[in-house]
Amino acid sequence: LSPYYLRELYCLATGVYSPLTGFMREGAYRSVVETMRLPDATVWPLPIVLPIQNKVAESLRPGGMAALAGPDGEPVGIIEGLEVYQRDPAWEAEHVFGTQDREHPGVARLLMEPTTLVGGDIRLFSLPPQEFPDISLTPRETRAAIAARGWKTVAAFQTRNPLHRAHEYLLRCALEVTDGLILSPLMGETKVGDIPARVRLATYRALLENYLPQERVMIVAFPANMRYAGPREAIFHALCRKNFGATHFIVGRDHAGVGNFYGPYEAQEMFDRFSPEELGIQALKFQPAFWCTRCGGMATEKTCPHPESERLSLSGTQLRAMLREGKLPPPEVTRPEVAQILIEAVTGDA
Ligand code: ADX
Repeated sequence: LSPYYLRELYCLATGVYSPLTGFMREGAYRSVVETMRLPDATVWPLPIVLPIQNKVAESLRPGGMAALAGPDGEPVGIIEGLEVYQRDPAWEAEHVFGTQDREHPGVARLLMEPTTLVGGDIRLFSLPPQEFPDISLTPRETRAAIAARGWKTVAAFQTRNPLHRAHEYLLRCALEVTDGLILSPLMGETKVGDIPARVRLATYRALLENYLPQERVMIVAFPANMRYAGPREAIFHALCRKNFGATHFIVGRDHAGVGNFYGPYEAQEMFDRFSPEELGIQALKFQPAFWCTRCGGMATEKTCPHPESERLSLSGTQLRAMLREGKLPPPEVTRPEVAQILIEAVTGDA
């Protein structure tokens, strides 16, 4: 298994992907891609599959068992009740990503992989050490930590980016209405150009230390890989965070989107297709947040009556250019403590 699939295995073994107990067999794969549900009708929006080379597939016995090994060849676990089948990449891409465009990083990965899949239940011999052990709690450990804090309602926030004031505003709003918050940065594979996990983590810590009530926020790594599947991935992110003990899940603008493949509210609308009971977690939906100079604070269109011209806005491109030049963006856009870490990372001072 490549590092990407070792991570998938870790997510399966620790219950991040509960109720899944292994890589999907054909029935589950087809059902999930087509209907966003497992064969027993449980909501599950993304295929969790294991592609293999044909010569490996030829050595497998249907219903049998095989060892799973990392890139170094060391066995790390087993997969049993094997089923080998073929994936349908064009059909899968169209359903899961809504496109077959290779510019989409999720589609590009899918089309690059072998089309032969192996399904089966998995077992891991022992949990591998994680890159950031202090935030790498399993879902079970996280639920215990939540219980120990006495939190009854917990909002989770998925992110793959450094947090700017718009993100922070969402966190604050969630903290106003829940007992606690899990900041849940995705630590698995992201696309080229995304900020590395180590740098992001430093920015999260800086934000927490300087601006948020630390006793009400826990940083817990989300060990999964990014898919950029927008609306479907938003549901997936929510279900995984339910496994970590969250009762609420923040969904903002273009959640898990990439480029212009999805509309800004498509991810939020996807939640309307399911009842909260069926999902077991409630979406907290947010409009794009901004700094309004007239309000003198962060707001969204739901709370601010002023025209767009009053908003302090900086595009991602402008923001990145400032950081590369070593300039601090306005504090209304990014906290200086966060910006400083990003400047050091992009200018190579770190
Ligand atoms: S994501 O791929 O993990 O969704 P990102 O880390 O940028 O990317 O976003 C984390 C969460 O914040 C998502 O729910 C996203 O919709 C939300 N979000 C990002 N930027 C904004 C914004 N300006 N206003 C409102 N929500 C936002």
